[in-house]
Amino acid sequence: MSYSPGLENVPATESSISTIDLEAGKIWIRGYSLEELAMECTYEEVAHLLIYGHLPDTRELNEFRRKLVDESLAPKEVLDILGMLPKDMHPMDLLKTGIAALSGFDPELENSDIEANRRKSVRILAKTGFLVGNLGNIREGGFRLFRSDLGHAANLLYAIIGRRAESWELKAFETAFILYVEHELAASTFAARVIASTMADIYGAVVGAVAALKGPLHGGANEKALEIFQYDVEGAEKFVRERLARKERVMGFGHRVYRRGIDPRAEVMKNVLAELCNRIGDDRLYRVAVRVEELMANEKNLYPNLDFYVAPVYKLLGISPGLFTPIFVASRVAGWCAHVIEQQAANRIFRPRAIYTGPRGQKISGRG
Ligand code: SDX
Repeated sequence: MSYSPGLENVPATESSISTIDLEAGKIWIRGYSLEELAMECTYEEVAHLLIYGHLPDTRELNEFRRKLVDESLAPKEVLDILGMLPKDMHPMDLLKTGIAALSGFDPELENSDIEANRRKSVRILAKTGFLVGNLGNIREGGFRLFRSDLGHAANLLYAIIGRRAESWELKAFETAFILYVEHELAASTFAARVIASTMADIYGAVVGAVAALKGPLHGGANEKALEIFQYDVEGAEKFVRERLARKERVMGFGHRVYRRGIDPRAEVMKNVLAELCNRIGDDRLYRVAVRVEELMANEKNLYPNLDFYVAPVYKLLGISPGLFTPIFVASRVAGWCAHVIEQQAANRIFRPRAIYTGPRGQKISGRG
């Protein structure tokens, strides 16, 4: 038996949810280009597309938006639990605990039929947004309620920055938020599908996906990528060269699927960063990004992924680095739920084999 380390290029399932189309340079989300969805739609429309399989009409959209607000407030017991956890706990670990605790309050937890999974997906989406937006506030013993006059992304940003975002801030934030929503069988999505394939509940699948996403090789990279942007151009170049010399990875670069090319999502966020820098009249972050991108291409033939350009954008929006990956969760949870719904609608439990490299026939010494 041969195998591909890390299951590189190995299809693990069929799916109608999304695909990375390297030939076209597109990410198709149920047939729509993710780039166009990010430019033309709201997050609610894309989340609806993922969970229900179609873009909503006006009535469906208004009802979905209303549900996301109505279902957003987490139970007091969950907030109390999070308030009791160690103050230095990473926000991703707080979030993982919070979503696990939410499962105890969902009356349909054990019902995995498609419509129950869809109803739970909406509750998970709404409450995860609330928890992410309030991870900082909960630590201080408070929270900001989601408002019916704001969309989901706007409510999340409002809870984080403590004020209603300017339209240009929200556009930058929501573009990144939509780009994060779904990306085929990333490690965290695959984790969710494996858990769902045992017919465990959707909350458990999401908790497992959150645990996987925290890793610095995956979603945790956006927080780590910010380190480069503390320097000016020369300092950033020195920082990167020293990391490469120590054979350390430069976070925000490389991708298992975009082997020798830029992540198309990074291209979109590069333009968003340029616009933000132009608006605030300070292009240092953009110049640092471009220089490091050139260096990594020339020295390592490695290209930016979405995380590299999201990090400076979030910094300019005043978002604390510890929330970068939780925001990724708040977006991707729609994709994870879509995969759980699809997996459990036509399920076969995942059970791969391992090529055994250990010994055989060992005798237990001194026995018999
Ligand atoms: C995300 O799957 C998805 O779709 C994920 C994601 C999504 O939307 O869900 O796109 C989100 O997770 C993006 C990736 C964020 N992670 C990082 O930015 C962390 C840094 N990047 C890597 O660690 C790495 O590039 C991965 C994990 C992204 C991909 O790893 P692979 O495909 O297993 O590549 P590899 O580890 O086999 O590396 C191949 C070579 C190695 O050199 P050699 O040992 O062969 O000499 O490239 C080098 C690596 O050392 N390399 C890097 C590097 N990434 C790979 N060297 C320096 N810096 C890097 N970032």
